[in-house]
Amino acid sequence: MTVSPAMEPATAQRAATRRRYLMCRPEHFTVAYTINPWMDPALGADAALAVAQWDRLRAAYLELGHEVELIDPLPGLPDMVFAANGALVVGGRAYGARFTHPERAAEGPAYATWLRTQGFELLEPSHTNEGEGDFLTLDHVILAGTGFRTDLAAHQEAQEFLGRPVVTLRLVDPRFYHLDTALFPLDGDNVAYYPGAFSPGSRSVLERLFPHAVLASEQDAAVLGLNAVSDGRNVVVNAEASTLITTLSTAGYHPVPVDLSELRKAGGGPKCCTLELRT
Ligand code: ARG
Repeated sequence: MTVSPAMEPATAQRAATRRRYLMCRPEHFTVAYTINPWMDPALGADAALAVAQWDRLRAAYLELGHEVELIDPLPGLPDMVFAANGALVVGGRAYGARFTHPERAAEGPAYATWLRTQGFELLEPSHTNEGEGDFLTLDHVILAGTGFRTDLAAHQEAQEFLGRPVVTLRLVDPRFYHLDTALFPLDGDNVAYYPGAFSPGSRSVLERLFPHAVLASEQDAAVLGLNAVSDGRNVVVNAEASTLITTLSTAGYHPVPVDLSELRKAGGGPKCCTLELRT
C-alpha cells in the first residue's frame, strides 16, 4: 500500500489564459497633487521615462500573448494612466467608476465612453468606487476593498449589477489605499497578499477563503510588489519585490519583472496601469 504525502494543490503545471487589457499611455503623466502618501509634487516626475517604462509593460503583455487595447490619454488628467481605476468589467458588463477626489473625477466618464463604444453594457455608479483598484475578480467571488476610496455601498451596487458575490475587505494602512496595492489574484482561486494592509477581521476572512495564499512581506508590499498582474502562470511584478519573486517561482509561477519606478511616484504599479476586459 502506498501513502501519498499531504499535497498542496498542484504547483507543477500553472496554466496561463489569454487576457484582454485596456491601457492608457502616460503622455500627460506628472505628480501635480497629493491624494496618497506616495505622491510628492515637489519631487515631480519624468513623463518621458514613465512612457518608456509603460511601453515595456505593454510589450511584456504582448509577448505573453495578451491583447492590449488603448484609450487616448487626456491632458490635465495625469493619473489617467492608471486604467485599473476606470471601471470593473466582468462578463461583458462594466460597472463605471466614480472617483473619490475631484482631481480624477473626469476619468470616470472618459473610461465609460470608451467602454460603451466597445459595446460593453455600462452601469453609471451611484456610489464612489475606483474600479479594479478596489475590485479584484476571482472565479467565484469578487474581493472588494474599502477604507480609503471605495464606499461600502458600491460593493453592493457591483454585486447586484454583476451577479457575483462581493466580499468586503477593510484596508487600514494609508500606503495601501487601494485593494490592488495589497493583494492580487494568482489565478481564479488563489491570491497573494500582504496581511498588514488589512483589518484583523478581514485578515481572518482572507485566511478562511485562501488557506494556500502566498503571503508577502512588508518589504515587498512597500515597493508595490502586490500591484501585480497574473494570467494564471505568468506574473508581471515590480522587479524590486525580490522576496515575492522568489516565493512565486517556488510556488510554480513564472515571474515577469518590470520596472515602473517612475509611475510609483504617483502610487502606481503594473496592475494600476491595467484594466482587464472580461467578456
Ligand atoms: N495617483 C493615483 C491615485 O492615488 C494612483 C492610482 C493607482 N491605481 C491603483 N489601481 N492602485 O488615485
